[in-house]
Amino acid sequence: MRVAVLASGRGSNLQAIIDAIEVGTVHATIVAVISNKKDSGALERARKHGVRDLFVDPKPFAGRPDSREVYDRELLEQLNKHDVELVLLAGYMKIVTGVLVNAYANRMMNIHPSLLPSFPGLDVQKKAIEWGCKLAGCTVHFVTEGVDEGPIILQAAVPILDDDTPEILAARILEQEHKIYPRAVQLFAEGRLRVEGRRVTIDQGTPVGQSIISAS
Ligand code: GRF
Repeated sequence: MRVAVLASGRGSNLQAIIDAIEVGTVHATIVAVISNKKDSGALERARKHGVRDLFVDPKPFAGRPDSREVYDRELLEQLNKHDVELVLLAGYMKIVTGVLVNAYANRMMNIHPSLLPSFPGLDVQKKAIEWGCKLAGCTVHFVTEGVDEGPIILQAAVPILDDDTPEILAARILEQEHKIYPRAVQLFAEGRLRVEGRRVTIDQGTPVGQSIISAS
């Protein structure tokens, strides 16, 4: 399965997926890592692993009323060029438009560091602490035009402890992100995800697949 990863930052989720591919728990090939940030850690990680890295500069389109759509058309061209079957947003800090969402309906995933639908958007670990939540977590979901709104594929929960700072909580959540994102990608690769309206169900599949779901 041919995968592209869009990332803007340090790229630890990208790394988790690269690692899972390298040890054979995810059966996929990352054919491109694309970033809107030239100096992103994600592009550096791609280069280190011999994965095609691509910086697509948003600046030339800035100021146009349709700048986001034009940018996404540029990305779509790259995705088409490399026959990408699944797109993964991993810390991609640009809102994707209908141009990409429609071309990759139910074939584009995102990872978000909250238990959606609670706390979409930014600074979500801080918000969860401030709300007095006892649980936080992360969500892998399909991408729709509404930000952090698409059908939920997998979630993992962690406790919020009394002396947590947003940074400490984020690190606890991140550990889980690195588990559930590769797992979701492998479920997709095995053709086991069924989307019905808002709900995603997971086909039972082979014993090997089952052990992937129950792995901690
Ligand atoms: C992660 O917390 C992810 O959930 C969010 O952005 C962060 C990206 O981290 N969407 P990294 O770049 O994968 O390390």
